Amino acid sequence: MTRQDEISRRRIFGIISHPDAGKTTLTEKLLLHGGAIREAGTVKARRNSKFATSDWMEIEKQRGISVTSSVMQFEYDDKIISIMDTPGHNDFGEDTYRILTSVDSAVMVIDGAKGIETQTKKLFKVCSMRGIPIFTFINKLDRETKDAFELVEELENVLGLPSVPVTWPIGCGMNFQGIYDLLKNEVHLYKDQKGQSVDDNGESKQVVYETIKLGEKGVFGPELEDIITANNLSTLRDEIELIQGAGNEFDRELIDHGKLSPVFFGSALADFGTIPFLHHFLEMSPAPGPRKTSDGFVNPTDKEFSGFIFKIQANMNPAHRDRLAFFRICSGDFTRGMEVTLSRTGKKMKLAQATELMASDRENIETAMAGDIIGIYDTGNYQIGDTLHSGKEELFFEPLPTFPPEMFRLVSPKDTMKAKHFQKGVDQLAQEGAIQVYRNEYNEVIIGAVGQLQFEVFEYRLKNEYNADIRMDMLNYSVAKWVNNPDLEKIKSALDSRTMLVFDHFNRPIILFANEFTLTYFKEKHGDIELMDALDVKSTLG
Ligand code: G4P
Repeated sequence: MTRQDEISRRRIFGIISHPDAGKTTLTEKLLLHGGAIREAGTVKARRNSKFATSDWMEIEKQRGISVTSSVMQFEYDDKIISIMDTPGHNDFGEDTYRILTSVDSAVMVIDGAKGIETQTKKLFKVCSMRGIPIFTFINKLDRETKDAFELVEELENVLGLPSVPVTWPIGCGMNFQGIYDLLKNEVHLYKDQKGQSVDDNGESKQVVYETIKLGEKGVFGPELEDIITANNLSTLRDEIELIQGAGNEFDRELIDHGKLSPVFFGSALADFGTIPFLHHFLEMSPAPGPRKTSDGFVNPTDKEFSGFIFKIQANMNPAHRDRLAFFRICSGDFTRGMEVTLSRTGKKMKLAQATELMASDRENIETAMAGDIIGIYDTGNYQIGDTLHSGKEELFFEPLPTFPPEMFRLVSPKDTMKAKHFQKGVDQLAQEGAIQVYRNEYNEVIIGAVGQLQFEVFEYRLKNEYNADIRMDMLNYSVAKWVNNPDLEKIKSALDSRTMLVFDHFNRPIILFANEFTLTYFKEKHGDIELMDALDVKSTLG
C-alpha cells in the first residue's frame, strides 16, 4: 500500500450535538460495528467509570463526568476511523470547540423531536467557519418527531445550512417503518416497532433488518405496496416527489466545503439507519487533506513531519506534573525520539514519548503518520496552537480561533501573601488555554469561560498546583465582543452599568455585555464602535 493509500484510508471526525440528542449512543453503535467494543453500554460505562486511572481529577469523580476528551479509533470497510470525543454535558468548554479545529468533518446529531438546540448551534458555527463537511443524522425516529421537512427547513433557517436528504424516513414513532435511501434507491425496513431487540435473557442482540432494492420507478414502483402501510407509502411518495422536484441537488463540491449537508434519519438506540449512514459517510467524508500554514499549505504526503497542538490536558495527579499535548500530524511521519522544531520559540525538541489516545489504553507508540492524532508528553514546553515540524524552513499553522466566552468571574487570591503564586498560576493556565484571562482598568483579573466546569477546574488547579486559594465573584455578563478600532476614550464614554471594558492577553480591548439585548442596544447607539466576534479574533499571534 502506498503512502497516499494509507492516508486515504483515514477519517477523522467529531460528533456535535446538544446533550441528550444521542451522541454517545451513536458513537457506541459505530464502535460496535467497527468491532472496537464488544458490548453496548461500553462508551457510557467509560464515561461513568474512567476515573480509576490516576490522571483524572477529583472534580471528575465528584461530578461523575469527564473533563477530558479522547480519540476513539476503529476500522470499518478498510477505513481507519477516529472519532474525536467532544465533551458535551456539564463539561462543555473551550476544549469542546478546540477539538473541532483538528477534525476533517463533523457529524451533527439532532434529536428529531427537538430540532436544532443551542449547543448544536454553537458547535456548528465553529465547523462552518472551518468549511469542513457536515453530515446530519436526525435521531430518535422510533419516537414521535417533528415533520421531516420541518427539520430539514430548520437546518436552513436556523443554521443557514442547505441540505440534501440521503435517507428519508417512512413514518415515525409508532408508525415508523423504515428509511428510503435516495442514492442507492433501496428501502431499509424497520421491523422492531419498539426500537429495541432483546433476547430471552434481556440482553441486547444484533437485529437484522430487511433491505428492499427498488426498481427504476423508485418509491413509485410496486415493490413497497404490500409492505408498508398505504398511508405511509402515499406520504413517502408525496415527499420524495417534492424532494426530487424542489429539493437541493446532490452536489459533492458543496458538500466538501460544508455548504450543503447530507441528511440521514434513523434511531441510534435501535441501531437503525446507522449502517447506511456509516457507508455513505465513509464514501463522502474527506481523508486528511492539505492544511493551511502562514505561507501556503502543507500536504499530508509531504516528507517533512509537521502538525499542531490543539489541546493540552494537565495531569491532575499533583505528584506528576506532566501534561499531555494532543497533536494532529499534518504531514510526514512521527518516529519516537525524533527531533523537531517548536515554531513559537525556534527551539529544538525531542519527541521522546508519545502515546495513542485511545480511550482505554494509552500505549506508547513508535511511529505514526499524517492523519493520526497522538499525545505528546509535555513538561510545560507547549501551548495550544503550537506548531512542531522537522523541516528547515520556518512553519506556522494557522492560529486557532478564540472561542466566545459566555460566563465571567472576577478572581483574586484569598491570601494576599500568595499573590505571586496566584499570578503565576493565572498566567500559566491562560497560556495553556484552560481559561481566558482579562484585566480591567484597575488591573483586576477577570476570567471568561464557555462552560462552568472551566471555572471549577481553574479553581482546583490554582489550589493544587500553585497553592493559591481564590475568591471568585460572579459577573453578570454573558457576551464578549472584541473592539476592532479601539479609541479607548470613545469606548469609555459609551459604557454604562450593563457593560464593562476589559483587556485580553494581547492588551486588546473587549467589551462585556450583560446579554444579547444590551449588545443590540449598544450597537444601535454606538455604530461607530466596530465590534468583532471572538471567532474572528486569533488566539495567538502566530
Ligand atoms: P448524548 O450523548 O448526546 O448526551 O446522548 P445519549 O446518547 O446519552 O442519549 C440520551 C438519551 O437518549 C439516552 O436515554 C438514550 O438512550 C436516548 N436515545 C439515544 N438515541 C435514541 C434513539 O434513537 N431513540 C430513542 N428513543 N432514544 C434514544 P437515557 O434514558 O437518558 O439514558 P439511558 O438510561 O438509556 O442510558
